[in-house]
Amino acid sequence: MRRIAILTAGGDTPALNATLYGAVTRANQLKLEVLGLIKGFTGVLHPHVPHVHLNPLFCTIPELSPSMGGTILGASRTYIDPSETEILTQVAERLGRLGIEGLICIGGDGTINGMQPLSQYFPCVLAPKTIDNDLGLNYRDEANEWVREPGAHPGKFHYKKVQSHPDLDLDDLINYATPGYATAVYVAATGIQRIRTTAESHRRIAIIEVMGRESGFIALGSAYGQPDIILIPECPIDFANVERRVRELYELQKHAVIVIGEGVVDQQGHQLGAKSKSVDPAGNVVFSGAAEHLKQILIDSMGDDYFISRRRNEGAGSAIFTRKLGHTQRGGRPILFDRYHAAQLGGMAVDLVHGHHDNHMATLQWTSKGGFSVSSIAANKLRDQWGIIHPRLVHPHFYDPTRFQPSRMGMQYLQPIFTNAIGADDMEEVRTQLFSPGNLTSRYQSVNTDIQKRIRIL
Ligand code: F6P
Repeated sequence: MRRIAILTAGGDTPALNATLYGAVTRANQLKLEVLGLIKGFTGVLHPHVPHVHLNPLFCTIPELSPSMGGTILGASRTYIDPSETEILTQVAERLGRLGIEGLICIGGDGTINGMQPLSQYFPCVLAPKTIDNDLGLNYRDEANEWVREPGAHPGKFHYKKVQSHPDLDLDDLINYATPGYATAVYVAATGIQRIRTTAESHRRIAIIEVMGRESGFIALGSAYGQPDIILIPECPIDFANVERRVRELYELQKHAVIVIGEGVVDQQGHQLGAKSKSVDPAGNVVFSGAAEHLKQILIDSMGDDYFISRRRNEGAGSAIFTRKLGHTQRGGRPILFDRYHAAQLGGMAVDLVHGHHDNHMATLQWTSKGGFSVSSIAANKLRDQWGIIHPRLVHPHFYDPTRFQPSRMGMQYLQPIFTNAIGADDMEEVRTQLFSPGNLTSRYQSVNTDIQKRIRIL
């Protein structure tokens, strides 16, 4: 094998460049040329396949830095429809004309689903990434526990998980954590700490919405910022219970901080933040505001009088406020945990493609005895009986719905990831770079400008 290609698909994460860096470093050792395809699957759909040679003379190009957020290749949520066999054939033929013998896709559940049809036409492997931490399994057989029911429209289905293995063992998780997750939680936890003191001063209730789609891993990890209440999508919200706890907290400490995962559902299973069912190009529901929805419910149920009597004439509308941490969770410098493991997983993906382990995914494993190591799994093991790869949900053993906090096992799950997740250099970077006088005098230099000069076409 002499030449491979790599692309970054789906929503970006802070550790994508670190994965690219690890892949190119390993390819340099194996004397493999690596072409980076521009903007995810959009690149291969383009007849000229815009690309960048990432390791001329087996030296990594200087624009590729593992500590820089985003992706120098650009990302998109474009995928190839499995029924478009002609397009799939064209894509394989174009890659072949470029002399490419295998493709690494860096992505999450959307990307690995999108890679399935292409892998029938061209050798592909996946290096995982997603801030949502929802690519993997809680245990090996989990993919077979999904069932489907007819949806609202003919040919559409609604998928749900029927059971959860009662004897969960952390050593059994497939892909313990995905690059990007630790940095997103770092941003969420620090954001919560900052919002806390202002809510505390003004006697307010802060509702902080975090990303993660249907998976509550970011919300769970945000426990490091010590919110009073954590609401995860896997546990339907009981409004009466939440209100009761909010009142208790408000009486005690005159403020409260609530974290809500964007995909939280009510007791009927309706998503709070998706009243208008708009979807993005990949078909995902666009979450429009779980925090706002909860705020309205608390305003209606607690009422103005409650707050006026305790806050000197300010009503519920101003006492309760919402903040979405939004894309701050996805951007910026990746912290040490993400950088290190993303690079390892990138290297593993090169070994997989080089060893012809087609349609496999590199995984980050953890055991209580050995700590973290990289491994791999056949993508087919992640698919349900209809061939779909579902997001990994937070296992019920990880969350305590009565305390609205991670359970003991949830805490045990989080600790290996986060205990030493931040490097000294991460803090030193802030100290030396943020208020550098040079930031005032020079404009932001976009890596896109430099990469553009390296782009070649078929
Ligand atoms: O899947 C990653 C993610 O950041 C989700 O947590 C979030 O719902 C979504 O992407 C947002 O996507 P976009 O940037 O396309 O709005």
